[in-house]
Amino acid sequence: MPIAIAIDGPASSGKGTIARKVAEILHYHHVDTGAMYRAVALFARRAHCSWENSEGVATVARSLAFTFPLIGGAVHTVVNGEDVSTEIRGEEIGKGASKVASIPAVRLALLQAQRDLGERGGVVMDGRDIGTVVLPSAQLKIYLDAALEERARRRALELGKEVAEVRAELADRDERDMRRAVAPLTCAADAVRLDTTGITIEMVVLRVLELAQSRGA
Ligand code: CDP
Repeated sequence: MPIAIAIDGPASSGKGTIARKVAEILHYHHVDTGAMYRAVALFARRAHCSWENSEGVATVARSLAFTFPLIGGAVHTVVNGEDVSTEIRGEEIGKGASKVASIPAVRLALLQAQRDLGERGGVVMDGRDIGTVVLPSAQLKIYLDAALEERARRRALELGKEVAEVRAELADRDERDMRRAVAPLTCAADAVRLDTTGITIEMVVLRVLELAQSRGA
């Protein structure tokens, strides 16, 4: 039976990669909710709307329609018909995403779309509040974590930047994500916590697949 798998965790904990691989193997849909917050940050910037302007950013969020087509084996983020997959990846937009994600009206604007995508089952959804808020009845919830140093190394490699610079940015973002009033990053009471420090992606994927199987996938 197709189930819903929620994967939450801090920046660069491996959520995206693990979610993508697990979805590929199970023939499930992968929904990257972080990409939605990143797109809100991008479109706000294009509209010359400050990330601190709650009303303005919420209006931008409500104007976006998302699709996640599979192109050449990779899930792309298409917003109002435009493929923004590459443009949303930088750490500056990541920082903007974390800022706009603390605005309750922005979260509300994205919540229904996320639930609609998850409710059909056969989905692996990753983010910060999937197990706690978006899909509280997901059959399997995973909380992925890793030491800050390792996450900074991974992200620096991905972005071609200095580890020290990336470490400070990640720590800053984690702090904001964990402390915000609405849907903060936290491990759901019924989530399985996995620490990926020093563990290969393949091993984590295997563990998630075992758990998924035990929950009916
Ligand atoms: O890829 P990375 O882990 O760096 O970040 P992401 O998953 O793309 O998410 C970018 C930002 O969006 C996060 O720092 C969160 O502030 C926000 N976010 C959120 O608040 N809730 C989600 N379900 C997903 C992302």
